[in-house]
Amino acid sequence: MQYIPGLAGVPATESQISFIDGQNGVLTYRGYDIQELAENSSFEETTLLLLFGELPTVDELQRFDQRLRDNRKVKFNIREIMRNLPSSTHPMHMLQVVVASLASFYPSTEYMKGATENQEYINDVTVKIIAHMGTLVAMWEHMRNGYDPIEPRKDLTYAENFLYMVNGEEPDPDWARLLDACLVLHAEHTINASTFTTMVTGSTLANPCSVISSAIASLSGPLHGGANQKVIEMLDEIGSPENARAYIEARLAKKKVIWGMGHREYKTKDPRATILQKMSAEVLKKKSDAGRLSKSFEVAMEVERVCEELLGHKGVYPNVDFYSGILYKEMGFDAGLFTPIFAVARSAGWMAHWREQLQNNRIFRPTQIYTGQGKACYLPLDQRSR
Ligand code: COA
Repeated sequence: MQYIPGLAGVPATESQISFIDGQNGVLTYRGYDIQELAENSSFEETTLLLLFGELPTVDELQRFDQRLRDNRKVKFNIREIMRNLPSSTHPMHMLQVVVASLASFYPSTEYMKGATENQEYINDVTVKIIAHMGTLVAMWEHMRNGYDPIEPRKDLTYAENFLYMVNGEEPDPDWARLLDACLVLHAEHTINASTFTTMVTGSTLANPCSVISSAIASLSGPLHGGANQKVIEMLDEIGSPENARAYIEARLAKKKVIWGMGHREYKTKDPRATILQKMSAEVLKKKSDAGRLSKSFEVAMEVERVCEELLGHKGVYPNVDFYSGILYKEMGFDAGLFTPIFAVARSAGWMAHWREQLQNNRIFRPTQIYTGQGKACYLPLDQRSR
């Protein structure tokens, strides 16, 4: 037996949902190139594609979209759970707690009897979780600042409603389009840590709310979804493009990572980073009076240049998180919202993998190579000295 740290390159499942070619910077969802989807699709349509494997017809999309809109509202008691959390609770921790609590509000004994028997429950809970994710994150943004949350609206798209609920004003069409593209870009990414968590928890036939709660916990770490918040903190610390080289050299000398750089699967620039960089640059220039990019964006481009020089030989290039935080900051979002927005988007991919896991389920139970001591004899407490 050979132990591979981090299971790098070890296939842990067969999946039809998405595909990465890390050498050539390719990502497809159900065979469709990510660039085509980011430019032409919507989060609602991409979610259906991930869940069911095909692009929907007009009717199918309209029905699914309506169900998402109808399920945005959260129950009064869920709001009470949120109200009882300390206001210092990070939005990812709130999300983890509250999504887990949904199991109490939407239980299903039928589901527990058999993995795929109750398709209606599986479809209902899929919609409920994806629809609630955006609402919960937007609600908490107000509640943690001491205000009442804003009610969701049914007349808006998923991205528009999220912007509306966070900012409390009519969503700007450019930001809504860009946020929608971000949700598409973050919706799925083969079996990364949080998706693998989804599969492992799902394989025990745990309630789907617990499954997604465990995935949220996994995404919250800075080596995974938490990186986008770290990126913006890093760019703010650097301050201006002239400081980038010295800052990066100092971090590398201390063996510290550069946030938003590197990826287990990609040995070239993450295609999502390339798409996001281009789309964001267009909107930022349009929105600035002088047709200029933002300060953070200029710092980021210099960081990317320096990192290419210093880390390119290791196959370390920008990942999707490198540019998403900059964009969210420009949209007016607090840094604490960056990773939760990632979670909102990724709930689509998690649900798709949970459903795929159930179709051919076997509980995950890998083995280990024991490296501890040999047989030991128990000594009574009063005979031990150290
Ligand atoms: N900054 C500096 N060096 C990095 C780096 C980064 N962000 N990412 C990888 N490297 C270096 C490693 O130090 C290692 O160098 P070495 O061979 O001299 O020891 C080499 O590149 C290989 O990296 P490794 O740690 O084996 O990659 P991994 O596949 O285990 O880890 C990540 C992947 C994503 C966890 C890692 O790249 C990272 O920590 N990135 C920053 C966090 C981040 O942005 N996460 C979001 C991912 S979408």
